[in-house]
Amino acid sequence: MTKSMNQEVRRILVVDDEVAICQVIQDYLALRQYDVATAGNYDEALRHLETREFDVILSDIRMPGKSGTDLLRHVRRHHPQIAVILFTGYADIGLAVHSMQEGAYDFILKPIHLEQVYLSIHNALEKRALKAEVRKYQKGLEDLVERRTKELREALRQLEASSLDTITRLSRAAEMRDDETGNHVLRIRAYTAALCRELKLPRDEIDHIYVASSMHDIGKIGIPDSILLKPGRLDSQEFEIMKGHALIGAKILQDADSRMLQIAEIIARTHHEKWDGSGYPFGLSGDRIPIYGRVVALADVFDALTNKRCYKPAFDLETSTDIIRKSSGSHFDPEVVDAFLRIREEFASIQKEFQEESPSEHGF
Ligand SMILES: [Fe+2]
Repeated sequence: MTKSMNQEVRRILVVDDEVAICQVIQDYLALRQYDVATAGNYDEALRHLETREFDVILSDIRMPGKSGTDLLRHVRRHHPQIAVILFTGYADIGLAVHSMQEGAYDFILKPIHLEQVYLSIHNALEKRALKAEVRKYQKGLEDLVERRTKELREALRQLEASSLDTITRLSRAAEMRDDETGNHVLRIRAYTAALCRELKLPRDEIDHIYVASSMHDIGKIGIPDSILLKPGRLDSQEFEIMKGHALIGAKILQDADSRMLQIAEIIARTHHEKWDGSGYPFGLSGDRIPIYGRVVALADVFDALTNKRCYKPAFDLETSTDIIRKSSGSHFDPEVVDAFLRIREEFASIQKEFQEESPSEHGF
């Protein structure tokens, strides 16, 4: 028994329609330093339970009105911390055993022996204290698991945030060779995610594509400055070299274990393919172009159209939309174009949010 159990005065409720039995038990337990209340039936017992707390209830099974087993069920439901011990005669021993299965701590056969009552209460209190210890231990474990899970989730969130931050900075660094603001990356991934949402791609896939699309032009770091930064249009030989950025990007990103980087490799490799097969590097057409490449292709062209380049002014939303609409089925997947047309206002607000402060060069 715990120290606190020895120190605390335990409260007992005795329930029996025989007043003499209640009285004898009350007197006996009072001598043993228990605080004892008595009730003559179920209803009176409930009134006690509403006003006071008890540690143990001793109740006769057979009483006028509701029985001791009814009281047991009520206590199990509304006061599960109270231990219930039932009195029973030989005739009802089967009922008493059944009550044990329903959660009674013990039963005592009538006629009652006071020593047995004391022992039964003592055992019930000990069992109850043990149960409380187990509950406390379980609660402690649950709290610990919850705390650790929270910490892990936070660590994972920070890791993901820092990974996104690193990718964004590296992608912007690559972009800033020909785009002083690097905002192109921020717009492309916002356009891409918006299109993917409209196309009802799975949520976790959209999260990957959002980050992966930042790296669509990472291969530009392998293109010589003389071509990348050349003012004016590129000649056909220079254009061939520039086209190499798709495969350079794919090479940088190939053989990754992470799904996000695998998608980034696909995007880098296929974002210049065209629906009719006239794109590069492989001239893929239709569904043979992965959806990631088809989506980023539109986002990339929309961004080039709506921003100033050395060879063209910035087109307004209407003109840019018109060009994209007319390229449905030739440059772009018609389903992606339809999705774009449904959400072009969202594109307009993304463009506004990440406005370019200085013109880019070629917009590849
Ligand atoms: Fe590109």
